[in-house]
Amino acid sequence: MIQPIENSYNVLTIKSDFPILSQTHQTGKPLTYLDNAASSQMPISVIDALSDYHRRYHANVHRGIHQLSELATEGYESARKKVRDFIHAKSKREIIFTKGTTEGINLVVNAWGRANLGAGDVILLSQMEHHANIVPYQMLASEKGFIVRYIPITDKGEIDMDAYQRLLTDNPVKLVGVTHCSNVLGTINPITEMARLAHEAGAIIVIDGAQSAPHMPIDVQVLDVDFFAFSGHKMCAPTGVGVLYGKQALLEAMPPFLGGGSMISEVTFDGFTTGELPAKFEAGTPNIAQAIGLGYAMDYLNGIGLDNIHHHIKTITEYALDRLSELPHIIIYGHSPNRGGVISFTLGDIHAHDLSQALDFEGIAVRSGHHCAQPLHRLLGIPATTRASFYLYTTKADIDRLVEALYKISTFFVSKR
Ligand code: ALA
Repeated sequence: MIQPIENSYNVLTIKSDFPILSQTHQTGKPLTYLDNAASSQMPISVIDALSDYHRRYHANVHRGIHQLSELATEGYESARKKVRDFIHAKSKREIIFTKGTTEGINLVVNAWGRANLGAGDVILLSQMEHHANIVPYQMLASEKGFIVRYIPITDKGEIDMDAYQRLLTDNPVKLVGVTHCSNVLGTINPITEMARLAHEAGAIIVIDGAQSAPHMPIDVQVLDVDFFAFSGHKMCAPTGVGVLYGKQALLEAMPPFLGGGSMISEVTFDGFTTGELPAKFEAGTPNIAQAIGLGYAMDYLNGIGLDNIHHHIKTITEYALDRLSELPHIIIYGHSPNRGGVISFTLGDIHAHDLSQALDFEGIAVRSGHHCAQPLHRLLGIPATTRASFYLYTTKADIDRLVEALYKISTFFVSKR
């Protein structure tokens, strides 16, 4: 019998809210889902809310003066208010629905960056960034001629804060782009402090919150960040919806990203004027069902409490780190004491893809590869890692199954050599 980690947090009850997790793997073994940093699962309340929307009130938003359109608009805009409250933004005008974190960062780069970055300017990214927080900047830099510099990380896998301060003062830095929580090392970065230093240096700060917003309470006003992007599908919502938070004054001052319906005030054959926030950044028909689903996912997470979820993930990650360290030949990457629920590792010289395939035969889902962080893997001197990532429904039994399977796989691979 698995014991809940703490009495008030009943992980088994939470797990039973997620129908997909009770299924059996095609091998006949139970399914152990440890790929939550790539995508989490949806509770029944979100699945039902999506079905209810499709059955009862699907229509386009902000357009029709008819009952279905009004209901859909109400649902969509009520989701925006839920997001505002979830991240403690000042106003719902600061909440832009996107397709996901990647689109949110591309929006900032192409709208704010295109208007504000030019030849000779410097921006800082960190060495632990996901490609989504590197490539859009590189694309614009090749066109505009600004310089991209990288904040080094320490042996523990944390931002080197001394180097960060030096980089900020050595150069006229205009923008700092950093992840809140690394999707490889698990490190949770000191964003409040980084934002304060960026602002003192006259730079704005853009946060990739893909791995933090699902796992811990977020207050964008306390963090005092300028932009904060995250995805719905890593926090119990469907794919195809994400959020870009931006400070109102910045969003108002910058040009639009995509052009089309909804984002305008007036269009003539000669030009256009932009609409009000947030419509200015939501051209075309948005992902209405998905945004409504995200609102319901936030209701679900709030019902459990983000503090409780964060505590659970911290506890389960510490347990996993302890148990995984028992394995001979394991190397774990990332040693910050302040970490989220991802653990990337190698096991002897077993290739990460072989390892994750062998784990799949045991019914255990993990991710292998460079996790869209090739520069970081190159820095670590490895082509790939295997990554187990946890969420609010991960149990100690899930971790035990992972460790037992890794023992079995390592014995098998060693005996074959
Ligand atoms: N960004 C996601 C991950 O790290 C897909 O797995």
